[in-house]
Amino acid sequence: MKTKIQKLACLCCLSAGISVLPVCAQDNAQEIQFDIQAKQSLFPVQSTMYGVFFEDINFGADGGIYAELVKNRSFEFQDALMGWIPFGTVKIEEKDPCFERNPHYVRLSFGQEITQTGLENEGFKGMGIKAGESYFLSTYARVQSKTPVRIRIELISESNHIFETKELTVSGNDWKKYQVTLTPQQTEKRAHLRLTLINPGTIDMDHISLFPENTYKKRPNGLRADLVEALKDLHPGIFRFPGGCIVEGTTRATRYQWKNTIGPVENRPTNINRWFYTFSYRKFPDYYQSLGLGFYEYFLLSEDIGAEPLPVLNCGLSCQYENDDMDEHARLDELQPYIQDALDLIEFANGSVSSKWGKIRAEMGHPAPFNLKFIAIGNEQWGSIYVERLKPFVEAIRAKYPDIKIVGGSGPQASGEEFDYLWSEMKNLQVDLVDEHYYRHPEWFLSNAKRYDSYDRNAPKVFAGEYACHTDTQANSFLAALCEAAFMTGLERNADVVQLCTYAPLFAHVDAWQWRPDLIWFDNLSVFKTPNYYVQQMYSRNKGTDVVKLTRNNQPVAGENDLYASAALDKQTNELIIKVVNTGMYRRSITWNLEGFADGKRTAKVQSLQSLDLGNTQLVPTESSIELDVPKAKLTIKPFSFSVYRIPL
Ligand code: AHR
Repeated sequence: MKTKIQKLACLCCLSAGISVLPVCAQDNAQEIQFDIQAKQSLFPVQSTMYGVFFEDINFGADGGIYAELVKNRSFEFQDALMGWIPFGTVKIEEKDPCFERNPHYVRLSFGQEITQTGLENEGFKGMGIKAGESYFLSTYARVQSKTPVRIRIELISESNHIFETKELTVSGNDWKKYQVTLTPQQTEKRAHLRLTLINPGTIDMDHISLFPENTYKKRPNGLRADLVEALKDLHPGIFRFPGGCIVEGTTRATRYQWKNTIGPVENRPTNINRWFYTFSYRKFPDYYQSLGLGFYEYFLLSEDIGAEPLPVLNCGLSCQYENDDMDEHARLDELQPYIQDALDLIEFANGSVSSKWGKIRAEMGHPAPFNLKFIAIGNEQWGSIYVERLKPFVEAIRAKYPDIKIVGGSGPQASGEEFDYLWSEMKNLQVDLVDEHYYRHPEWFLSNAKRYDSYDRNAPKVFAGEYACHTDTQANSFLAALCEAAFMTGLERNADVVQLCTYAPLFAHVDAWQWRPDLIWFDNLSVFKTPNYYVQQMYSRNKGTDVVKLTRNNQPVAGENDLYASAALDKQTNELIIKVVNTGMYRRSITWNLEGFADGKRTAKVQSLQSLDLGNTQLVPTESSIELDVPKAKLTIKPFSFSVYRIPL
């Protein structure tokens, strides 16, 4: 054990991620006391405080939480047969289409001179199929010939073996919807779907879709139940969607437009995904958005996971990293439709069933309002071009919906001239919250645990909308998670200023990702929660109702002796909640001076994430309990640990 510890480092010495592990000598003999005003509320913790930020990056939506298994079901990718392996006579047509906003469809002809005609879909790095479960294959089709055409439907394993076969007969010259249920008896992580014409004839097909029956709540056009459950388990208070850069689009034409994402899924126009490339070494030319997971589904998901929805809308700017050219941004005199989109979205979410947009929501299945309270305008924008576009949005939203909280942004930087400029402009515009983003090194997270202690209490509140600790490898790790936990004591201590926070990004497909670290990884069958996930969960499930003062020598506990701590009261359960992070290699003996506690004993519930392996990606929290003598409770804090203690008052 001694050898192992000596190989580890104190985090304050880590300047280059987990690959460099110097040993740091420290004095371990110091008397450490935390003074905790256990029963005196400083201010409430917002119920929305800890949340999730969803973006369709790393195949998080199509190929991820959106349970559709067919890639390019509408034949609308730039190469219309991308995702499909055609054989025999297969053509793309658009005359007399089934769906005017997704006009391309496939024509398959089979005659005597051809041995076989059909199509095979590769899914999203294959299709996850579970033995004994039902899958609905649906399509819109018509025959061009006089007689009906039979189609063989097969599921093919990775080793090219057919493990499920069904048949479908298409008849008539008009577009009609067909559905067949597949009940495979084999589990496959990377299956393919194959459709083959059985008898001679010509057939047109569009929107070829394969959905599991067991989506979350068995909803048609539904979501992967295991991924929704992983979100629910976080107990998120806020749900930010749909991005991220995806809101901006690589170009103005490919920006995210929420009105394209509602109504019948077949007619939602496919859009190229902003993340079809990220960096030159990771390109995904087959990354599109079917928009089957659209704004209605996002609102429903917010409701399902118990979080307040926080939609982000385009402010008239496309991705500023991609576009220096002003032609790719809306001019000020072109902004009105963008502003109208924001006003209409509020009506879609909250309007009565007799309003134009509220009626559409009701027709989609949700007559009750979604009770939207927040809206963000712009993602990671910067410069005066952002400020001058945000201003008319703020004026219009305030005039029509004065109760809606507006979120502005402070750009991609966490400090500096541009950041300061945007913050002062956000104050001038009197937005309610300012969205800050930081993807930074471990040292930044540790030294910024005090970041919000000195923020202006009379300014807009902070939404830490995108953050993650990036080591040099950018892999998920316990090191990164521990630094995030340490930093988050500062979010909690300043919950009067920081009212929302969301880690980013949320999801990543193990076989198709552009960006890491991410909170939750998945393949086509399973979910993998990271140590970073558990840090978020430990905060969110233990946020309490009110922050209380926790100090050492009258100072916040924010790094001295590698210790970080914060405390909250839970008025609902009548407990004091103490969070302690030890980012150092030494065990620490500390005393909690629990002011307000009478002499006695308490049994505290403890949840801990602890490991001497900072590269650990498999770590899960342990649960235990300890006996404490109060009001002066002595305890030992393990090295490299994050613990949450719940102590009955
Ligand atoms: O979370 C990944 C990306 O990081 C987001 O899309 C963007 O807002 C930020 O640059």
